[in-house]
Amino acid sequence: MKSFYITTAIDYVNGAPHLGHAYEKVLTDVIARFRRQMGDHVYFLTGSDEHGQKVQASARKEGILPQAYVDKTAAEFRSLYDRLNISYDDFIRTTEPRHKRVVREILQKLFDQGEIYQAEYRGFYSTRQEQFLQEKDRLPGGGWSEIYGEVSEIVEKNYFFRLRKYQDWLIEYVGSHDDFIFPRYRQKQVLEFLKEPLNDLCISRPKERLEWGISLPFDDTYVTYVWFDALLNYVSAVADKGLWPADFNVIGKDILVPPHAVYWPIMLHACGLPPPKALLVHGWWLQSGAKMSKSTGEAVSPLALLDQFGVDAFRYFLIREMNVGQDSEFTVEQFLVRYNSELANNLGNLVNRTLNMTTRFSGGVLPSAEVVDMPERELHELWLKTRDEVLPLCEGFQFHTALEKGMAFVTATNAYIEKRAPWKLGKSTEATDQALLRTSLATMAESLRLAVALMAHVTPATTAKINEVLGYKSGPAWRDELNWGNRLDGAQVAPALVLFPRPERPAKPV
Ligand code: MSP
Repeated sequence: MKSFYITTAIDYVNGAPHLGHAYEKVLTDVIARFRRQMGDHVYFLTGSDEHGQKVQASARKEGILPQAYVDKTAAEFRSLYDRLNISYDDFIRTTEPRHKRVVREILQKLFDQGEIYQAEYRGFYSTRQEQFLQEKDRLPGGGWSEIYGEVSEIVEKNYFFRLRKYQDWLIEYVGSHDDFIFPRYRQKQVLEFLKEPLNDLCISRPKERLEWGISLPFDDTYVTYVWFDALLNYVSAVADKGLWPADFNVIGKDILVPPHAVYWPIMLHACGLPPPKALLVHGWWLQSGAKMSKSTGEAVSPLALLDQFGVDAFRYFLIREMNVGQDSEFTVEQFLVRYNSELANNLGNLVNRTLNMTTRFSGGVLPSAEVVDMPERELHELWLKTRDEVLPLCEGFQFHTALEKGMAFVTATNAYIEKRAPWKLGKSTEATDQALLRTSLATMAESLRLAVALMAHVTPATTAKINEVLGYKSGPAWRDELNWGNRLDGAQVAPALVLFPRPERPAKPV
């Protein structure tokens, strides 16, 4: 079995989770589930980033200790991910001893190797971004962008990690590994950034200014810079498992340059470890053109949509709507359009018709297909084409197009039902009509089974539920499930299932 190690960014737990956090975990889960279905031995890591200025400040505001604060907020993130059906194997918290131990070991090793040195630093510091700023970061008018929040000038002794020393190595590495960053066009952005000489990275914060962090093993008066600490989660979590390098570190575009594309590969290289095999960089969910975040105050609560429409409708929307790598505007209207037209009216309708007509015309037992005429042949052919297009699309993270094709197959199945009109056949006593009736019931049920098998990594609970009402138990080999095989012959179906209730209108009688 091929092993496949995938990670998400670990979220800052200094507030409530929002749609951006939820999307990344759902996307990574969809990839993890897809790779499992393809037979890989998947290890899926997520977690929380719990140190640093922002957490310390938020805890103070609430008048509680940082540890108590992160215990509470990390639990909130985690419970959201459980509700989202995120199939993570491990959830690492950077305040855990197993993580701190590895961070300190690595710091000590780098210090002993001479990769870390002490120097005086004078400069401008952004508390919000927890980063030192340079002259080139100033706005044309001389001020600082509001993304930096309050900026103050400080002078202090700090420890620095030799980034500059590895700049040429990194340029060579990124330039010669076209698969290192997905989507590929982001490689240019990284190489562009690397045209300027790198400054060594300040990896310490004096404890007078920031106490909430991992103490430097070689100088107890400092804590570790939060990014240096956080990035190492991908290694610390699997320290005893031999899983490094990860196949993918999944991250948002705001944390590609410099943390994941510059600091991270250099940190690893300096320790004698290989970079991750690839970085998968997704875009942002926007509202009215702006990135959604805690501080914009208008972040849509993912919990509200989850409660109202259920986990799979939510997952489906995020994956159907976003082209991985690009940005997407979030609106409740668009959510409702997809929910109504694709889930309720298209898929929901196929489920209703299949259960209802099987119950009505066949006593709830699925018959065998007996006829293969033009309509059946066309549907079989469309299935083969759909399946053969969808697998490579998923392998290339084009899940939105894969879902579109899956839904087009559902639409075609509904059209097939219209064509065969089983409700008319049911009125006839002719043997040929009865054979066609049995054929149409078997065909719609098999199509439904296949369509939901194809979406299982996006809507796992719905797929399981539909299999259950179809009286079907899926086998262990997912790719084999995707063969048209009349596997439902003789299955006993449930009489009805309300999957996607329509929010504005009462459910129509079938
Ligand atoms: N703690 C750091 C990551 C450390 S990884 C070693 C961090 N945390 S975060 O909470 O700000 O963001 C976590 C992830 O959520 C990032 O990958 C970020 O890009 C993603 N998103 C945050 N807002 C987002 C949107 N509006 N849309 C999509 N994803 C965005 O950065």
